[in-house]
Amino acid sequence: MIDVPWNDRAGRFSVLRLAALSLAVAPALWIAFDSATGGLGAKPLDEATHRTGEWAVRLLLITLAVTPLRRITGWTRWIIVRRMLGLAAFAYGLAHLLLYLADQNWHLDRAVIEIAVRPYLTIGFVALAGLAVLAATSTDAAIRRLGRRWNQLHRFIYGLAALAVLHFFLQSKINATEATLMMGFLLLLMGLRLAHRAGWPPGAPRTPVVVALAATLGTAALEVLWYGAATGVPWRAVLESNLVLTPWPRPAWWVLAVGLTLAVVPLVTPRVADRTRTAA
Ligand code: HEM
Repeated sequence: MIDVPWNDRAGRFSVLRLAALSLAVAPALWIAFDSATGGLGAKPLDEATHRTGEWAVRLLLITLAVTPLRRITGWTRWIIVRRMLGLAAFAYGLAHLLLYLADQNWHLDRAVIEIAVRPYLTIGFVALAGLAVLAATSTDAAIRRLGRRWNQLHRFIYGLAALAVLHFFLQSKINATEATLMMGFLLLLMGLRLAHRAGWPPGAPRTPVVVALAATLGTAALEVLWYGAATGVPWRAVLESNLVLTPWPRPAWWVLAVGLTLAVVPLVTPRVADRTRTAA
């Protein structure tokens, strides 16, 4: 039987795997299309570096969302897309580095010095090196060989995601909106993980509600700290910007919306949740 990425392990076609594959491949096709049609602007390599970096972070966070989704919905099949999404995040990170090197006209010596002396690049490099280790140990053979140590090793993904988000912040100029949004989602995911470790029931709506409120406040607070430290904007102005909901609400509101949506999920999928929640 031909092993195609949209089939599950049993060789059956899986809509979930096809959706994950589409999510992984679509941004690359979009960037390639824009590159071929002049849609990347005056500095195509720079623009492609930015876009691949953004997708690396987004896919990393989506990968981290798989386990909480499995716990909250009680639907164990989410797990069949985790490895694919994680590898996609790494692939975008690698493409991001290669585009950066191409932008440096492949002057590797100059790039190495830059990465060593500019903290935001050093942090990006450490994140990518860590993701490379996780990607290299994501094969079935490596999982078997490492046993319990595999879980311990792959827990580092949270730290690596935090480094990637920090790298995102540090390279943001005056507008750190998307970096703040990514940090907020990371706080939400870390909160759900902590709640799980503390024994809070994942299917009970109060778990995502409490975590969502904490992550929302954390997002708003870190946003104030970031703008205060990086741009000198007074804390009151940053906080007040959260009260203006047009044209788009600030990141803290999106974190709240996603967190509260997670609280509703077990209510609308009760049968699935009841069947497997205890096993998750
Ligand atoms: C050796 C590793 C890396 C290098 C050399 C690198 C380099 C860069 C550079 C040059 C920029 C643009 C900075 C600017 O225009 O001022 C950038 C932005 C960015 N990088 Fe990296 N990076 C690395 C690793 C990573 C990794 C592992 C991730 C995510 C997992 C990542 C995510 C991002 C993001 C999200 C942005 C901002 C994109 C935007 O503003 O639109 N980078 N990086």
